[in-house]
Amino acid sequence: MTLWESRLGRSTADEVMTYTASLRFDRRLAVDDLAGSRAHVRGLARGGVLADREAAELLLALDTVAEEIEDGRFAFTESDEDIHTAVERRVTEIAGDVGAKLHTGRSRNDQVATDLRLFTRRALRQVAGEVLALQETLAKRATDAGDAYLPGYTHLQRAQPVLLAHHLLAHGWALARDFDRLVHTVDRLDVSPLGAGALAGSSLPLDPDGVADELGFASRFENSLDAVSDRDFVAEALFDLALLGIHLSRLGEEIALWSSEEFGFVVLDDAYATGSSMLPQKKNPDVAELARGKSGRMVGHLVGVLTTLKGLPLSYNRDLQEDKEPLFDAVDQTVAGLRAVAGMMRSAAFDVQRMQHAADGPTSAAVDLAEWLVQHGMPFRQAHGVVGGLVRDSLERKVPLVELVQAHPALGAEAVELLEPGVAVTRRTTPGGAGPEPVRIQMERFAHRLAVDGERLASASRNR
Ligand code: ARG
Repeated sequence: MTLWESRLGRSTADEVMTYTASLRFDRRLAVDDLAGSRAHVRGLARGGVLADREAAELLLALDTVAEEIEDGRFAFTESDEDIHTAVERRVTEIAGDVGAKLHTGRSRNDQVATDLRLFTRRALRQVAGEVLALQETLAKRATDAGDAYLPGYTHLQRAQPVLLAHHLLAHGWALARDFDRLVHTVDRLDVSPLGAGALAGSSLPLDPDGVADELGFASRFENSLDAVSDRDFVAEALFDLALLGIHLSRLGEEIALWSSEEFGFVVLDDAYATGSSMLPQKKNPDVAELARGKSGRMVGHLVGVLTTLKGLPLSYNRDLQEDKEPLFDAVDQTVAGLRAVAGMMRSAAFDVQRMQHAADGPTSAAVDLAEWLVQHGMPFRQAHGVVGGLVRDSLERKVPLVELVQAHPALGAEAVELLEPGVAVTRRTTPGGAGPEPVRIQMERFAHRLAVDGERLASASRNR
């Protein structure tokens, strides 16, 4: 039996239920649906729509439903279209006639919007916590890396040596922006839609402010049409997760490169690598590759939801039911991905020798030579030309660059010292730069940022 049987004389066709029912995925909103119903019942009691005794009976029935769902005893039936109808049906079975009052002044339109906001608030905070955990791992590895260095690349060509700590923290700062975005998205979504009804509010004395307060929302909706139509928070959450996914993808791509024999900069822990079913020698960086691969799916979810929203007239349309599966999947994949990537980064063994050897190539201090000339009075463009000429000469005539530098009238023995292994990286002294001095400061600032963000998340969660 469906809720609308009295209006539509015939029962819904099976294939319609198959196509339209959302219970399969929205049962995940059960906790939030129950929280919303409790707040709604109390609001109705405050307005005098429900007698205190009726409210108490409904709350008791909701508690029973919560227990049944929690320990898996809850029996869903064929006609349960979604979690909202399932809970209401069961409350009515338990509480009898008074159960028929649960949905007073409420629609599934404001109900589902409320549930999904509660879910998203909790889920994004969970993701933010996992982001912090990965950042902490990167910070720890950066600290442990000390003054180890590797080539920094542009165009995937060796450019200038950078500290390994600097490289790791570059990913850490990208994650700091992800954290920030997640927190701000939660701030914006923290608005209760409950009390908007189907689209226009109610003739009954509802208490949307009290209900919002009870659910821990920062405020209630201002416009009932907007309240039931707005899925900005889903799109924003999906954007945040897509960009976070892209950051993991970029990190994953580097780990895949670094763990190749060609680079050999990192050896993954066996627990964070996989083997080949055919090639006995293989050890594959599948976590890194899936961090890269799954980001495509995240972008797909974002584009899918934006496309669903595009052109929808006010207010609620069933199209909006398509918001949930992409969001749930994006959250699940992100949490799983962050944990796997954190484990991979925590356990990976960096081959510092190989990194440094690659960074000590003869040309990696080229710009230092040019800057040395600048410090001795030569205009940069001219210095750039001098060093570029020496590099070309060295390659074409197969003469070591050191010899050419030694012999050059404007350079000589003092400049040769710049080419000594490990010297170039120490010369990156400017704020935010890749050398030991600025990186030490950067690490302090990063640790401070982590502490501040950890407190931000904890205090936001304390206020619900
Ligand atoms: N399952 C629906 C959704 O997720 C619940 C709201 C249904 N409302 C309606 N008027 N049919 O959007």
